[in-house]
Parts: sequence; structure tokens; C-alpha cells
Amino acid sequence: MKTFDIIVIGSGIAGLTFAFKIAPYVNRLCIITKKNADDTNTNYAQGGIAAVFGEDDSFEDHIRDTMETGRYLSHRDAVEIMVTNGPKLVRELKELGAKFEMDEKGNFKLSKEGGHSKRRIVYAGDYTGYEIEKTLLNHIKTYRNVSMLNNHFVCDLIVDENNLCQGVYVLDLESNEIEPYFSQFVVLATGGAGQVYKFTTNPIIATGDGIAMAYLANAKIGNMEFFQFHPTALYNSEKNGRSFLISEAVRGEGAFLKLKDNRQFMHKYSERKSLAPRDIVARAIDAELKLSGEDYVLLDLAPFTEKKFKERFPQIYEKCKEMNINVPYEPIPVVPAAHYSCGGIYTDTNARTSIENLYAIGEVACTGIHGANRLASNSLLEALVFADRCYQDVKEKIQTPFETTVPGFYNQPLNIPLQIQESFLSLRKKIKEIMWKKVSIVKTLKSLKEADQMINMISETFFSYESFNTVEYFELRNMIIVSKIIINSALKRKESRGLHYLVDFPEEKNEFLHDTIIQKEVL
Ligand code: SIN
Repeated sequence: MKTFDIIVIGSGIAGLTFAFKIAPYVNRLCIITKKNADDTNTNYAQGGIAAVFGEDDSFEDHIRDTMETGRYLSHRDAVEIMVTNGPKLVRELKELGAKFEMDEKGNFKLSKEGGHSKRRIVYAGDYTGYEIEKTLLNHIKTYRNVSMLNNHFVCDLIVDENNLCQGVYVLDLESNEIEPYFSQFVVLATGGAGQVYKFTTNPIIATGDGIAMAYLANAKIGNMEFFQFHPTALYNSEKNGRSFLISEAVRGEGAFLKLKDNRQFMHKYSERKSLAPRDIVARAIDAELKLSGEDYVLLDLAPFTEKKFKERFPQIYEKCKEMNINVPYEPIPVVPAAHYSCGGIYTDTNARTSIENLYAIGEVACTGIHGANRLASNSLLEALVFADRCYQDVKEKIQTPFETTVPGFYNQPLNIPLQIQESFLSLRKKIKEIMWKKVSIVKTLKSLKEADQMINMISETFFSYESFNTVEYFELRNMIIVSKIIINSALKRKESRGLHYLVDFPEEKNEFLHDTIIQKEVL
């Protein structure tokens, strides 16, 4: 029998931060990831971490920008916790070895992004997430009581009849068998769900696994109608299911959006033009593309010299050159792509979910921070702060060694026939198309109801099969569940707020100034 004190699922900034903090207090900690430890959304975060370091900045300014961008649905108590704990935890990362850009006086260099009234983005070139991931992975390796289990897929949670989580069921990708792993606490840090959309900046692993397994165990899921579309993914750059991101920091440093015929358009949508919050910029691009019938808009890099662009955004520079875009002399063709799930597993400010001893941190969680729209670069900060809160809470409660009280039994699934595997691939593609066409930047009641019907048909086909012992089977199950939750959350919110734009109800309404909660028995 495999028994641990704590199991962490996912190895991005949230999971690793929690793990390294709690490791000294436990005997056995296991981190499980379905691919390699560095296949995470964190790794692709280009922009940085928002935190108050600027002389002209204040906690109140950061709180106000977050609340305003979240269209006042963000929970002020959670936002205060995040903003006020931010600087201390960013410094801690630096002390662990993360090489952020510093000025000659030893202060963090600060960048700007949409929706921020001040410069407050701490960064490392255009590879901040990678730098943090590398630092945390190096650090976690120094703990001998931490096992890192790659290529293991967590299928389901073990939750007893008293709503107490006691571990997870894990598919071993070598033996193809599912085994129970018991633990006193389970921390879900599985990241996002961008793969339910045809175009996304998320890696191929982002199939909403944590949200789906928590939902199946009857956890509360919150605010899933608020899916953020990043305005500037590189046009025609899809590789391994992922579009290449052109960081918002490029606009933060002066680049601006324009149409193919060189006309600028953002002044029609916001006083802040190309640096308006993401929901506004993505909707503006969507509207302009529908008007012009073109496939992309352009990001003009006029304020940059080649040297400055290459130094500040080395990855983007290389990628553009690889695609024969002569930056900064030529503009970059960009389109919006699904980027970040503002909703997720509903938690309190200690990262506790509605299932006892089950915690959720990072993008998989809905902590109340993002409300109706996430302020750029608040996500790495949220992950850092709530991983720390989670650690403090678990540290108070942990008893080692842990012994389970449940037998833990899973009906072993079948080997998958080739023909069914192919049909699953085509269902996966269909979901992505439906979500992109009918449940994305601009929605209507009609498009949502059509999507609901279509996903229900896919769901019926899928659940008419036996269960199979492959990652593809479980990922498809999870994508169906997450798509249904997104659609049903959107159908409940008969207004437009932040990222949720419903043509039939284009205004914000006070009666909807509350979170949308979905639980298994109500969907
Ligand atoms: C970006 O660099 O534009 C992405 C950062 C974020 O999503 O916060």
C-alpha cells in the first residue's frame, strides 16, 4: 500500500512552493505530475509577478487595480492578503536563486502591463515563469523525503462518506494499472484548462484535470464563466496544441495594436488604448477582425530598437525571427487565444476546498482574487501567496505518520481498442471547435444553448463506453466535464461582466454581483 503524509498534484509555482515549505515538517511527501515536472503553465509565463516595490506605488493602488479589473467581483479580503504578502514572498524567491532583473542600486526592475496604474511587474527577460520553475525544481531536489513521480496520471480523488479526502487513484503509465495512493492531505495544483479551446497559449497538459476530479468528488466549483483570452498570441504559431504568446509586457513597453492597413483602433474601445485590461483588448480585436474579415491584427514595435527588443524579449525575438518576421522593423501578427481560467475549485483564503483535507492552489483554484477578470501578472503572485497560506494551514493540522481508514478500490479499466482511441481523438477536436466557436470572447444565449446540446451529445457518446486505462480517456472525460461547467456557469450569469460578455445582456447588473457556484448535484 502506498501511503504519504501529503500528496501534491502538479509541479508549477504553486505546487512546488507549497512542497518546499512543508517538506521539513513531514516524513513522506509525494509530488505527482502527468508528464515531466517542468511541463507546466508556469514555465510559459512570460510576463512576470505583480508586486508593490515601486516608490510611487502602494498596496492600496494594487488592490484598487485588481478590484477594478475584476469588475468588483474579486473578494477584497483575499486581494488584500495577496497584495500585502506579495513583496515578502517575491524576495524569498529571489533569495532561493531566481534571477530577476535588478537595477544598479539592487532594486527590482519593474515592467508595466494592461490594467496596472503603476510599474509593478518583477520579471526575468520574457521567461519569468521558466526562471521561477527552474529555481523551485532545483530547490525541491534537495529534500530527500520528497518523491517526484513523473508520468503518473491522477484519475480521481479518494473521498470517504464523511466528505474527507484520503488520497488519490493513480494511473501508472508503465504498468497501465490504477492504484490507490493514500495521504492525510491532498493539494491540487494542476493548473488550467485552456485545452478545451481550439486556440490556447496553454500547454497540451492543461485539460482541467483538477477541476474535473474535484467536481466528480462533489467539491464546489466557482466562476468558470470567466475564461481569460490573451489578446496577443502569435498568429499561425500553433505547435503541440499551443499558440506562442507575445507578452503583454511588449505593449507595456510601448508597442501598440493596429490593423493591417496601419489604422490604430484601440482608442475607440478604451482611454488606455492598447494597455486596457485584457477583456477589453481581446473583445476589441475580435470586433475589428469581424468587421474587416481579416485573420489577425498587428502589433507595431515602433518604440523599440532591435538591440532593446532583443535584450528585453529574447524568446519572442528568436521566435519571430524563426517565423521570418523581421522584428522590430516589421509588426507582429497577433490574435487572441484562451489563456487563463479565472474560476476553478472554490476555496477559502487558506486554500481549503469544500472537501475536508483537500486543498487547491494556483490556476486550478478560485480563491476570489480574479473576480470577473484577472489583472495581468497577478497569477504567479496568487499562486505564491496561496501556496504559502496553504502551507501554514496544513502545518497546523498535520499528524505524521498517517494511516488511512478506507480500503481504496478501483475497478481496473480495459485496454483501449485502436478504433475507440481514434474516435476519442475526434471527440476531443470537436469539443475544442465548439468551445471556440460558441463559448469564447463574445457569447449569446443561443450559442451557449447550442454548445450545451452539442457537448451533451459528446458526453452521452463518451459515457456509453467502458472506462479505459489511458491518459487520453481521462483527459477527454475531464475536458467534457470542464466544458459543461463553463457553459452552465455562463448560462447562469445573465449579464455582461469582465470576461463574460453576453450579447443578449450587454450591461453589468447588481443582482449578479456574486460568485457562480456549480456542484455535481446541480449540474
Ligand atoms: C504575459 O506575459 O502577457 C502573460 C502574463 C500573464 O498572463 O499574467
